[in-house]
Amino acid sequence: MTEVKRYAIVGLGHRSLMYTDALNNEFKDYGKLVAFCDTNQSRMDYYNRYFQDLYQAPPLPTYLATDFDRMLAEQRPDRLIVTSIDRTHHEYIVRAMEAGCDVITEKPMTVDAEKARAILETQKKTGRQLIVTFNYRYAPLNSKIKELLQSGAIGDIISVHFEWLLDTSHGADYFRRWHRNKENSGGLMVHKATHHFDLVNWWLSSRPETVFGFGKLAFYGRQNGLARGEVTSYPRYRGYEEAKTDPYGLDLSQDERLTSLYLEAEHEDNYFRDKNVFAEDIDIEDDMALVIRYDSGATMTYHLTAYSPWEGYRIAFNGSKGRLEILLEENSYRLPRTSYNIEATAKDVTLPPRIVLRPLWEKPVEIDLPTSTEGGHGGGDIRLLRDVFVGADNDPLGRAAGHLDGATSIMTGIAANRAFKTGEPVRVSDLLDIPAKV
Ligand SMILES: NC(=O)c1ccc[n+]([C@@H]2O[C@H](COP(=O)([O-])OP(=O)(O)OC[C@H]3O[C@@H](n4cnc5c(N)ncnc54)[C@H](O)[C@@H]3O)[C@@H](O)[C@H]2O)c1
Repeated sequence: MTEVKRYAIVGLGHRSLMYTDALNNEFKDYGKLVAFCDTNQSRMDYYNRYFQDLYQAPPLPTYLATDFDRMLAEQRPDRLIVTSIDRTHHEYIVRAMEAGCDVITEKPMTVDAEKARAILETQKKTGRQLIVTFNYRYAPLNSKIKELLQSGAIGDIISVHFEWLLDTSHGADYFRRWHRNKENSGGLMVHKATHHFDLVNWWLSSRPETVFGFGKLAFYGRQNGLARGEVTSYPRYRGYEEAKTDPYGLDLSQDERLTSLYLEAEHEDNYFRDKNVFAEDIDIEDDMALVIRYDSGATMTYHLTAYSPWEGYRIAFNGSKGRLEILLEENSYRLPRTSYNIEATAKDVTLPPRIVLRPLWEKPVEIDLPTSTEGGHGGGDIRLLRDVFVGADNDPLGRAAGHLDGATSIMTGIAANRAFKTGEPVRVSDLLDIPAKV
């Protein structure tokens, strides 16, 4: 008989749906949701209505964040899922582990070294399991790269060149809401690049040792907007006529879920999801260039751009027996939001992903890729959920990630944030001591 675990979830925003839907649907034989917790009652009520309509699920008890400990005591979850905003992850991870729960947290595990230390210490003290859900590892393309590198296709990896592009829709979204303040998200070096740095740690089976880089806000933000003559005058889209001519403006009312989750919930907490990307208070970077040395001896040059015309990545691995090159185009261009639809995207001309293996002294070989369109993130989300809810035994690629992977993945970005401030290279071990994996 399969044990049906009891799950509570904290943070009922957009991302929570992946987990709550899975527990109401494909994985309901493995887990049962027992409670919702958030600072915002309207978002919890929305999800109760949503699952009642979709699956006839009885409404779950809801707890405001101030009653989190009472929720654990009354509902006795075996596991807590953390999908709240990044700066709050550590609080819930630590309190749940201390109360005897295992925890599944969204990336990034947390946003700075001090909070990461608190999580590692609590995990050591309590022995509880902490899963960090790195869905990108499960995307077929990324799994294929791991398989090739692990098989020795290019020998020992000597260096990596990695460029990730976020376009003017997805990239811009981080400048509309809480992510745009470093205190909330750690900036894109932590919030977003935790995915990329986790992939590299996993692909290379290595850890970052020294990080150096430069980061700047060069495209979004008030000064850049003024200099280029962008629409900087409105604070948020809703209620402001001038927002309608801004190609970056987000009209939440065009989408039913965004309306329910944000517009109809904002009276409680002033969480405005549609702010102007050319605002004064933005303190994160939109262009970041790093050089990293890994403890295997490999080096990496890395660049993250958040204002690109197209979205995707290019990566090249140089090895002792050859080179592996990858190009992934997720969206080849974006339409301005003034010619409106909420997903103003253009998948029509997007090229298929390409992996080319170039062994030394041989002809290059194009590698076939498994195609999958099932679920989000190239099919990564559904495979990840299987590992999370059913179990992750016998995966030859070792995709399941725990607290040590979570900590290692954020430390590259946390060290980069330090380097941006000081102009000096940063040794990761000077910021946090992460125990070796056994
Ligand atoms: N792996 C992925 O691909 C992926 C994709 C999107 C988001 N995420 C992660 O999921 C998390 C949530 O992102 P989102 O896009 O759903 O954000 P969101 O803003 O839509 O939702 C965040 C929720 O947290 C709640 N919250 C805020 N402060 C809180 C507190 N102190 N206590 C409890 N709840 C609080 C908010 O009310 C909101 O309901 C983030 O950590 C993000 O990094 C991961």
